[in-house]
Amino acid sequence: MKIKFSQYSLLGTLIFAAFNINAQTKSNQATKAKIASIVKKLTLEEKIDMLHANGIFTSAGVPRLGIPEMVTDDGPLGVREDVKEGWGSANLTTDSATFFPNGSALAATWNPALAYRYGHDMGEEARARHKTIMLAPAFNIARTPLCGRTYEYYSEDPFLNARLAVQSVKGIQSQHVAACVKHYAVNNQEVERNRVSVEIDERALREIYLPAFKAAITEGNAWTIMSAYNKLRGVYCSENDYLLNQVLKGEWKFKGIVISDWGGTHSTVNAANHGLDLEMGSGPIYNSYYFAKKLLDSVKAGKVSVKVIDEKVRRILWVIYRTSMSENQPTGKLNTPEHSKTVYDIASESIVLLKNDKHLLPLNTSAIKSIAVIGDNATRTFHLGGFGAGVKARYEVTALAGLQNRLGKTIEIKYAQGYSGVYKPARRNGNEEVSKPDTAMIQQAVATAKSTDMAILFIGGNRDYESEGRDRKDLGLPFHEQELVDAVTTANPNTIVVVVGGAPYDISKIKNNNHTVVWSWYNGSENGNALADVLTGKVNPSGKLPFTFPAELKDSPAHALNAYPGENLKVDYKEGILVGYRWFDTKKIEPLYCFGYGLSYTDYKYSGLHTNKNSYKLTENITATLKIKNTGKYSGKETVQLYISKAGSKIERAEKELKAFKKVKIEVGETTDVALSIPVKDLAYYDVKTRTWVVEPGKYKLLAGTSSRDIKETATLTIN
Ligand code: BGC
Repeated sequence: MKIKFSQYSLLGTLIFAAFNINAQTKSNQATKAKIASIVKKLTLEEKIDMLHANGIFTSAGVPRLGIPEMVTDDGPLGVREDVKEGWGSANLTTDSATFFPNGSALAATWNPALAYRYGHDMGEEARARHKTIMLAPAFNIARTPLCGRTYEYYSEDPFLNARLAVQSVKGIQSQHVAACVKHYAVNNQEVERNRVSVEIDERALREIYLPAFKAAITEGNAWTIMSAYNKLRGVYCSENDYLLNQVLKGEWKFKGIVISDWGGTHSTVNAANHGLDLEMGSGPIYNSYYFAKKLLDSVKAGKVSVKVIDEKVRRILWVIYRTSMSENQPTGKLNTPEHSKTVYDIASESIVLLKNDKHLLPLNTSAIKSIAVIGDNATRTFHLGGFGAGVKARYEVTALAGLQNRLGKTIEIKYAQGYSGVYKPARRNGNEEVSKPDTAMIQQAVATAKSTDMAILFIGGNRDYESEGRDRKDLGLPFHEQELVDAVTTANPNTIVVVVGGAPYDISKIKNNNHTVVWSWYNGSENGNALADVLTGKVNPSGKLPFTFPAELKDSPAHALNAYPGENLKVDYKEGILVGYRWFDTKKIEPLYCFGYGLSYTDYKYSGLHTNKNSYKLTENITATLKIKNTGKYSGKETVQLYISKAGSKIERAEKELKAFKKVKIEVGETTDVALSIPVKDLAYYDVKTRTWVVEPGKYKLLAGTSSRDIKETATLTIN
């Protein structure tokens, strides 16, 4: 029998793979043996010391055995500045870093390859700054648009979250730095986050809130995870046997460390026995922690077994052997041009063109002589602000600086502040009302707008206004920005409105009254350059909204059902699986802007959606293929979104669910074939009775769209 070349190469690949698996198994066994021998040598006191913080971001190693301490750091905007006890700046000159775009900006790119680069580059910076664990990525579901941390998180959709989370984790860990995925689980509001209990049915938990965590662990292989502050069904997440022991360590076979959120541990025996491995916190009396002397006493009293302690120590050593004690560690890199390029690419693919009715964009730069750049957000930076992690950015290009960089030589640019974005929260949970608009600033803005060919008006939130630790009170634009928009638009009808934010705002009046509207984010060190390139057309916008903008807050599911922020410290997730667009579509409520929405300077024509087969078995993959033609005048990137819909289901279903997406670059006049794959098992719903995933047989509809509500092509298929 003759063996063909292709068979040789297949044989070669198989031998190489077998060799690799073998080498990997051997090295895993060697590490296991080393860990076992270390555990034998440790005293109980040394073990307990490894299980709690000994500094704001550190936990003890064992110097006599050469085990380094673990150094964690925030994430997700970049590697934060170093702090000293009490959270004050350590005043170093070596800890400035790259500021990466916020989570919802990354999600708006719909580009998992960029999520990998984000993780990779942040991992390199973490490595250069000697961190063991990056406290990122963060991807709790955007259940309510008001959540103060929406800007840190990704989206309202579990599938989009999962695709991005897996790549972010892989990117970070490629640098021998552990990712810490957070916050596990259902940490979807900041109001009473330290006390509130989430009451949720199992199906919604499994279908909406857990999938991205599961994917980050089982596909992304995240080495650490952070337990959330809140309770799930009456039990704190940091001592929740169901979440930690049964689901995470049991079902998902998680091998790494469960780290508490800072100050989020509430017991010794329960937390230790129910799956928490490492207690972190902000207070300096570390010996008073639940996992310090109290844990030692509990072991001595027989309430926590040495076996449980050893298991935690093994997990910590397992992570240390993959990070600070790993072989072939990279040395890391800080603030490189490559990192800036990643930031630029994410930022430029995240910006969402909401409206371009007069084709004012891209700017006709040869015809424009003067531009009024107006608004506090044009000169504001976003690397720091509010409560929670920021970055001491090596640099950040503001929107005004970006426009000056790109246009300053040929176009006269005049700036007026328009409003003050200085914000001080008045109450714990809510946003301060600024009493009156600043008429002097508005008048100055109007005069500037009148004296120029056109105006670009920068409004929206900022990092003080959207913050960890509190939710927004409503969706209204802050700082009396609407008055400014009205006045400037009247003064100069050629006004482009750029709204900057990390979460939905009520911009219905702007949508109605203004012809040109752009959405931008807290877009990292390269913010202004990316924005200027989108406005001038060097980059064709391709961002798509990662969450629904409701027309009114009361349309949003948690608010429609009066299921936020809860009563008597309980919040009942009454909307179940109908989160985000699942709710709006199923209940036929028109949003202001739908999930997945975003325009381009060009036009795309979809055609010919078909599947590789008509009917499928459970173990198969559905391959859907379609053609997209760029029929406009600019080359661009389009994200094809593939939703699935099941009519006549015997169970409650969302009208449609995202199951695949792909971003493709298409040149002018070109047609591209796009193939998307959906494993049939991904069509399953979680059956609460049998506690299993079930694929319902029958007919399904595939919907290919440019947004969740602009479906261009459909196809049907049958599952046997
Ligand atoms: C946040 C975490 C963060 C930790 C350490 C907590 O307040 O919830 O996301 O990693 O602080 O800064």
